[in-house]
Amino acid sequence: MRLALLGCGTVGSEVVRLLHEQATDLAARIGAPLEIAGIAVRRLGRDRGDLPVDPALFTTDALGLIKRDDVDVVIEVVGGIEPARGWLVEALRAGKSVVTANKALLAEDGAALHDAAAEGGGDLYYEASVAGAIPLLRPLRESLHGDRINRVTGIVNGTTNFILSAMDATGAGFAEALEEATELGYAEADPTADVEGFDAAAKAAILASLAFHTRVGAADVHREGITEVTAADVASAKAMGCTIKLLCIAARGADAAGRETVSVRVHPAMIPLGHPLASVGDAFNAVFVEAEAAGPLMFYGRGAGGAPTASAVLGDVVAVSRNRLAGVRSASESAYADLPVRPMGEALTRYHISLDVADRPGVLEAVAGVFARHDVSIATVRQGPAGGGAAGRGEDADLVIVTHVAPDAALAATVRELRGLDIVRSVASVLRVEGGL
Ligand code: NDP
Ligand code: HSE
Repeated sequence: MRLALLGCGTVGSEVVRLLHEQATDLAARIGAPLEIAGIAVRRLGRDRGDLPVDPALFTTDALGLIKRDDVDVVIEVVGGIEPARGWLVEALRAGKSVVTANKALLAEDGAALHDAAAEGGGDLYYEASVAGAIPLLRPLRESLHGDRINRVTGIVNGTTNFILSAMDATGAGFAEALEEATELGYAEADPTADVEGFDAAAKAAILASLAFHTRVGAADVHREGITEVTAADVASAKAMGCTIKLLCIAARGADAAGRETVSVRVHPAMIPLGHPLASVGDAFNAVFVEAEAAGPLMFYGRGAGGAPTASAVLGDVVAVSRNRLAGVRSASESAYADLPVRPMGEALTRYHISLDVADRPGVLEAVAGVFARHDVSIATVRQGPAGGGAAGRGEDADLVIVTHVAPDAALAATVRELRGLDIVRSVASVLRVEGGL
């Protein structure tokens, strides 16, 4: 089985290492040896340390490598939309099998890849694209195909989980925790894709597509990052017996006419410490799947890093190689349900709202009235002296309100109106609450 490896960076170099170290076992598992036909990179002169591979295999001509007749499987670990999309469409149309870790491309234009795979008759596997080493996509696309998945809730970005875990553990602010993540090599020099939620949103789109048999793209995902999360938010969460996580949530629901829909969103949220995702610390990933017959399932492990990601890539290489030897391909994309994606305003969420209000008679009534006008039911109210000082009548008071479930648009409108009240000095924090409380 001849492999074209596109990219030899963090992940690609570990793919090369594993192919070398496990060569005998891999050949036995597949029924044929795996051989690297060529490795496409950007810089031929780059120092690649002691990589156990013939330097003559390196090329900058990725397309030429893909088109070679002796290439059976193309492994893409370059990333980005172009030129990766053009390469993979070319490979798939030519009947080659493709293994990719490229979540950005799958979320942007997975349809082009799936269509090309159907046309060429090869396999398209992408286990490494979501949650790195964790076997998650195969369970969704195979093991759970006899069941009905209702909801997927995940921590799918290691960098932001590291930052939020550090803020929780030390009381640090976002900037300080990001600096630590950068120093330790978790965050990239440009952390935008991680901290603004783009990376998690791409993964959410892939998970939702598989879970709900519906094409969901990055543009369908409501996305908010963690840059606005403050040390005060983290302290407030703690006071409520919660922690803050960047969650990806994909859920079935119904629109006003009762038609089945899905909602897919990525945003920071408070979750109770007793929730299975609350204890997922450091840069780990975890995904909580709720299925009709199976009930709750939890997947946990390393979501990034060269070796963990290469493990998932190699698992796919074994699967597609076996298929090629047997002259079969795996089931094609399952998008038959074609469910509409609900706008964020219709998603059902709960809010935790922290207000600095005037401490005088009638304030609670006025605040509660705003919630009532927007048909948002209050679950709990906690009031204390401003800044958490000694009890007693003061100028201002801190008011923390947690709502019951309501449409996100109603909650957002409530907060907008609260901001306009003269008795509300400031809306100190607004966070969604997930996972019961
Ligand atoms: P790197 O930046 O470390 O490596 C990218 C590789 O692609 C390099 O070898 C680079 O060449 C090569 N490359 C870049 N542009 C071109 C080009 N135009 N032509 C040929 N080769 C090119 O990326 P990673 O290994 O970190 O990530 C690869 C993929 O895996 C991405 O899709 C990423 O999202 C995904 N992924 C990564 C994870 C991780 O932990 N790193 C985890 C899960 C998924 P050169 O070596 O010459 O610079
Ligand atoms: N940047 C990603 C993360 C790793 O922090 O989880 C690749 O998916």
